[in-house]
Amino acid sequence: MNDRDTSHLSWDEWDELQRPAPENIDFDRVVDEALTRRGFLSGVVAFGSGAAVMGTGLLSGSSAQAQATSRFGFTPIPIATDSTIHVPDGYTWYPVAKWGEPLFSDAEPLDQATGVSVASADRVFGENTDGMEAFVVDGRQVIAVNHEYVNPGINLPHQDGEVINADDVLTLQNMQGVTVMEVAEGDNGWGIVVDSDLNRRITQNTPMAITGPAAGHPLLQTAADPAGTTVLGTMNNCGAGKTPWGTYLTCEENFNGYFGSTDADFAAPDGYARYGIGAESRYNYEKFDARFDTSANPNEPHRFGYIVEIDPADPSSTPIKHTALGRFKHENAAAVLAPDGRVVVYMGDDERGEFMYKYVSNGVYTPGGPTSELLDDGQLYAAKFNTDATGEWVALTPESTGMEAAEIAIFTRMAASAVGATTMDRPEWVAVNPVAVEGYCALTNNSRRGPDFANAGGDPAVAVPNSPNPRDANRYGQIVRWWPADDDHAATTFTWDLYVMAGNPTVHDDLNKGSANVNAGNLFNSPDGMMFDSTGLLWIQTDGDDSNEEGFAGMGNNQMLAGDPVTGQIERFLTGPNGSEVTGLTWSADKRTMFVGIQHPDAPFPDGEGLLARSSIVAVKRDDNQPVG
Ligand code: FEO
Ligand code: CA
Ligand code: CA
Repeated sequence: MNDRDTSHLSWDEWDELQRPAPENIDFDRVVDEALTRRGFLSGVVAFGSGAAVMGTGLLSGSSAQAQATSRFGFTPIPIATDSTIHVPDGYTWYPVAKWGEPLFSDAEPLDQATGVSVASADRVFGENTDGMEAFVVDGRQVIAVNHEYVNPGINLPHQDGEVINADDVLTLQNMQGVTVMEVAEGDNGWGIVVDSDLNRRITQNTPMAITGPAAGHPLLQTAADPAGTTVLGTMNNCGAGKTPWGTYLTCEENFNGYFGSTDADFAAPDGYARYGIGAESRYNYEKFDARFDTSANPNEPHRFGYIVEIDPADPSSTPIKHTALGRFKHENAAAVLAPDGRVVVYMGDDERGEFMYKYVSNGVYTPGGPTSELLDDGQLYAAKFNTDATGEWVALTPESTGMEAAEIAIFTRMAASAVGATTMDRPEWVAVNPVAVEGYCALTNNSRRGPDFANAGGDPAVAVPNSPNPRDANRYGQIVRWWPADDDHAATTFTWDLYVMAGNPTVHDDLNKGSANVNAGNLFNSPDGMMFDSTGLLWIQTDGDDSNEEGFAGMGNNQMLAGDPVTGQIERFLTGPNGSEVTGLTWSADKRTMFVGIQHPDAPFPDGEGLLARSSIVAVKRDDNQPVG
């Protein structure tokens, strides 16, 4: 491994290294007595009107009681620490698509010694699968799936992960972005339909349009695009979403790590620091591709950090970056219709101490009606949580922020700070329950919340009892949920509680033991991916510490669990291979197959000893072929 090779680090770990930021903050320390009075230590995490919605399973903390009323159709499984996937008895899994697998028959097969060639990198299934959604196009099943980042140590095995020329950069750029692929179930199970006319790779070099309030703004103009309305590519595509009109939403997260300066004297423009854009990129792109050299193209980073809409039914369509949805480290996009037909999109900004957002369209969606303005003309809000279990969505307007509309769209983090939004423990996926008017957000962890650290955004990130972020040095994470006023996702007020506070009751006897619906049988940390199935069960995927030691003892590898929103019961359904994050979930049209993403596994997953590790989508089915969601 060369000095610059940080491919053994996840993006989150790498980003943390860019942000040491220790700084004493003057604040009133949280006292355990207050938490005890509030009921946290007795495991009650619901309060206010939200508690009325919760069943007695969570409040009583009785796993046995919850078991008796389980809605789960599976027998929970134990943790695992090995290099494969485990699912419950009566279920089977197998790979459907692996990094390097051809989407087109002209792609060269993956070579164990050299990886994927530069000529084929955008003709194969990309690296590090993440958020995905399934669509039906003319009766054919299509999966759109993100490729979040690359692992040069695996992708450039002949160079020990070192990026040494422009071809290396192009190879890596083409392994990221999005795959749109037709899949079909044959005698040997699900697989890619090679050469389908719906197959498409979208990479860091695919032309796309910029729309919304920031389109054409001087901060988005470059020498290659003086109009500021077209950009090449999307990157660090993390979570995803689906619009009511059947398009795919892909979310640009840690884009900052791709930009660097070849000029040591380059002075970073305003806005770089808050978005973590530093002097050196992670993979040397700036040395071989001037677009990523901030000293040559200082506005290029302003053109990333958005949500991109892709039409999976039209491979010739131009993807659209919608600036009205804000610029930050977008995790995913949970779109839902308000009762009056307005489109609501909930979003998280995955950085410690950043915010939760939602967008509400001005126009309404009608099936078959026009949709082109719905993600460009609307109002962006940031979430403010009160300690009395109420909250509000604060509109980010020129009046409330002192910023122009275009500036709000480009420097959304600053706009949310200006209105005093609540700093959060790294908002990851948002999920909206299809059978109840409620939303959930995974707050994955925040190792630097607390008195000794400033958050990345520059706002005090302090633990406050009865806030959605109640712990200092939050190593386990929690899931907050909210109920919009009047059962209307467009409403500007809500009530909230914590659905679960992850922890380890076998090790801790304080807040770190977690809430009452955490027990020795379902231990996990760092909830991240979340999707509801059609029956209203919440599927929770983790991206955390898989050491299985000390405070993480009994948690094993990263995993996927199912949660009952009503009883609070949470049970383990799937365990991932060593080193991996379980992320991305969707279903076949008949719900008889669950597609699950495995990101950055260690070798030998999935092909065996001595072979390259390959991030994969796997199918999970019941042996009796009954629905799995
Ligand atoms: Fe790409 Fe925040 O996970
Ligand atoms: Ca994630
Ligand atoms: Ca994560």
